[in-house]
Amino acid sequence: MAINASFQRKVDYLRISVTDRCNFRCKYCMPPDGVDYKSHDEIMRYEEILIFARIAVKAGIKRIRLTGGEPLVRRGLDKLIYQLNKLEGLEDISLTTNGYLLPEHANKLARVGLDRINVSLDTLDREKFKEISLVDGLPEVLAGLKAAQNAGLNPIKLNTVLIRGFNDNEVSDFIKFTKAHNYNFRFIEFMPLNGSSQDNDSKYISIDEIKARIKSAGFKLTPAEIPGGGPATSYQIDDTQATVGFISPISHSFCSSCNRLRLTSDGKLRPCLAMAKEYDLYDQSGNLLPEDKLKEILDQACSLKPDHHDFANEEDYGRNMSQIGG
Ligand code: GTP
Ligand code: 5AD
Ligand code: SF4
Repeated sequence: MAINASFQRKVDYLRISVTDRCNFRCKYCMPPDGVDYKSHDEIMRYEEILIFARIAVKAGIKRIRLTGGEPLVRRGLDKLIYQLNKLEGLEDISLTTNGYLLPEHANKLARVGLDRINVSLDTLDREKFKEISLVDGLPEVLAGLKAAQNAGLNPIKLNTVLIRGFNDNEVSDFIKFTKAHNYNFRFIEFMPLNGSSQDNDSKYISIDEIKARIKSAGFKLTPAEIPGGGPATSYQIDDTQATVGFISPISHSFCSSCNRLRLTSDGKLRPCLAMAKEYDLYDQSGNLLPEDKLKEILDQACSLKPDHHDFANEEDYGRNMSQIGG
């Protein structure tokens, strides 16, 4: 069972942003001056997230992904995961993180029932890492990946947002790194959701171009099935266990098979990443709506998912990526 959505789609995947705060400032995700963070009392309490999650799972949501900002900067995330793990019918609990705090958290997360993680990794060069995220954090992230692998949070997926002139010269290095560690490495086309309109067109590079470069560097790609509910198409690299995935929202839109909704940290349900429309889960006095109303909103958001996004013409996304959760 899943929730019926517009254009004959089925929704069974909910991305829940638990905070808009982040310990990084990635340039493809936030505007250069950062963003104004929500205050503590504007953010959904864990109890409220659980109320909505319970309704969503009962209605047909099978996968929940926790996102941010950076989800690991919010205290007590393990307690939320522990409670989510008890929801009958929920098959997959995952987390998207920048990895910096994984050395400290990986074991605890695995223990309370987190199934898997996706980690951002946009460069293997320490100086470039500092340049893109404004934090000298590559050693911590690499240690975090090891900690997560040891904790059993496998298979680990890595996310690289492709930026022309910044990391497109590292494609072969990424593939070699992936082969050495058995990761699932994903290349993602840059989406203009960083809250800035400067140079965005010149940053973009298509997945087709990257795929061609991987092949001409001599790597063999064979179609592969990777567990997960997201939009990546995956390939086995040579004859190894390592895989590479491609996420191409701009050049090969996957809207027709979109299976997800997004809940922002301040309690707004978003039918589509690339559309400003949101449904507020709170009344005017700041109280979470009653359960029957929440269920109504869930159905409405599914039936109002657009049939396609329009990155070329859309100007107003309402929020930038760090406020939506990717
Ligand atoms: P799994 O397949 O379940 O592992 O997750 P995922 O790949 O969907 O999650 P992740 O948070 O790692 O997302 C990777 C990238 O895909 C991010 O850049 C997301 O913004 C992008 N992405 C995920 N879902 C959508 C979507 O519905 N629309 C668009 N345009 N991009 C998406
Ligand atoms: N375009 C594409 N992907 C992005 N992400 C963040 N900003 C962008 C963007 N502008 C990705 C990061 C992170 C995930 C949640 O979203 O790779 O892993
Ligand atoms: Fe933070 Fe992730 Fe955005 Fe980087 S991509 S600023 S780590 S939320």
